[in-house]
Amino acid sequence: MESLVCVTPRKFTYQQAVKPVLTPGQAILKIRRIGICGTDLHAFEGTQPFFNYPRILGHELAADLVEADGAPDFVPGEAVTFIPYFNCGHCIACRSGKPNCCSQLKTLGVHIDGGMVEYLSVPSYSLVHGNGLSHDELALVEPLAIGAHGVRRAAIQPGEHVLVVGAGPIGLGTMEFARIDGGIVIALDINEERLDFCRNRLGVHYTINAQSPDVFERLAAITNGDMPTVIIDATGSLRAINTAFSYMAHGGRYVLVGLQKSEISVSHPEFHKREATLMSSRNATRADFEHVIASMKAGLVEPTNYITHRVRFDQIEADFESWLNPDTGVIKAMASLG
Ligand SMILES: NC(=O)c1ccc[n+]([C@@H]2O[C@H](COP(=O)([O-])OP(=O)(O)OC[C@H]3O[C@@H](n4cnc5c(N)ncnc54)[C@H](O)[C@@H]3O)[C@@H](O)[C@H]2O)c1
Ligand SMILES: [Zn+2]
Ligand SMILES: [Zn+2]
Repeated sequence: MESLVCVTPRKFTYQQAVKPVLTPGQAILKIRRIGICGTDLHAFEGTQPFFNYPRILGHELAADLVEADGAPDFVPGEAVTFIPYFNCGHCIACRSGKPNCCSQLKTLGVHIDGGMVEYLSVPSYSLVHGNGLSHDELALVEPLAIGAHGVRRAAIQPGEHVLVVGAGPIGLGTMEFARIDGGIVIALDINEERLDFCRNRLGVHYTINAQSPDVFERLAAITNGDMPTVIIDATGSLRAINTAFSYMAHGGRYVLVGLQKSEISVSHPEFHKREATLMSSRNATRADFEHVIASMKAGLVEPTNYITHRVRFDQIEADFESWLNPDTGVIKAMASLG
């Protein structure tokens, strides 16, 4: 079978690989869609920390099930997606119902070879029923589940003001699920095009350019002086993360979905007087995947809002570099095969 290997930074090669055979506890998938994520772009660029080459990328996947061991509810031929973070099953996080932050977590396409292949073997426990969704929709479930998980962590009450900082693919999904939970969403980004997209395509209630000098005053005006009770970072920018502490209401929660490498700093008295809660949000759980699927089925999330670029599997190598350029307006590039 064909596979696409990232052999070193900035170099892909198509290679013949051995088609996987069924082993106990595993499922064989015929891959149909591969969504391209920021992690794939950073791995290709060579800027993803702790990343080893060669590596087959790809973890946002839709597939048809070929055969499975230990998945009696699943029917061969059925369209599926799966949870691409494989957990150990016995660490404290796994024992506490938090397999998304397992201490031994292996993410497909990052720590182990991923989905840029024709056929893939995955643990049967990771399978998720497609529930009648299209392959395009199923390949969007994982990236949307990241935002849905951040929103779950925030436990939004209807009518709360939710400030989402960063309107990339992860932030956009976060805004959608904050809205679905009844939040009044405020989008903050430095990119006007992305803010336009939030307003015009996602129906986000308020947008603010983070470079404007009166961000604080505008937030105060929108919230009747209260400030947002929930802030969710989806930038991965240290500056944005540090700045947003000052936008938080007293008694507020701050969820970090975005990730960066340095140390966060916050004024302890400012944090203390708010009795604020700071949380990180890693990956997503089965409940988040199912929530995303149900929301898509209910028409609450429109997949065509996300897919801006389409290629066939054999064109990924040629087009990949162009998706690093923000001028292409890429939100989600989607590759098809099979
Ligand atoms: N929680 C998880 O498990 C998980 C999973 C996937 C990605 N992520 C992280 O989520 C973050 C977002 O991912 P993405 O793919 O959407 O990235 P992206 O780069 O496409 O989007 C980031 C957005 O933040 C905006 N931004 C940058 N600096 C800003 C600032 N100072 N103020 C306001 N906005 C600013 C950018 O203009 C951009 O629109 C990354 O840090 C990524 O690592 C987390
Ligand atoms: Zn991803
Ligand atoms: Zn574990």
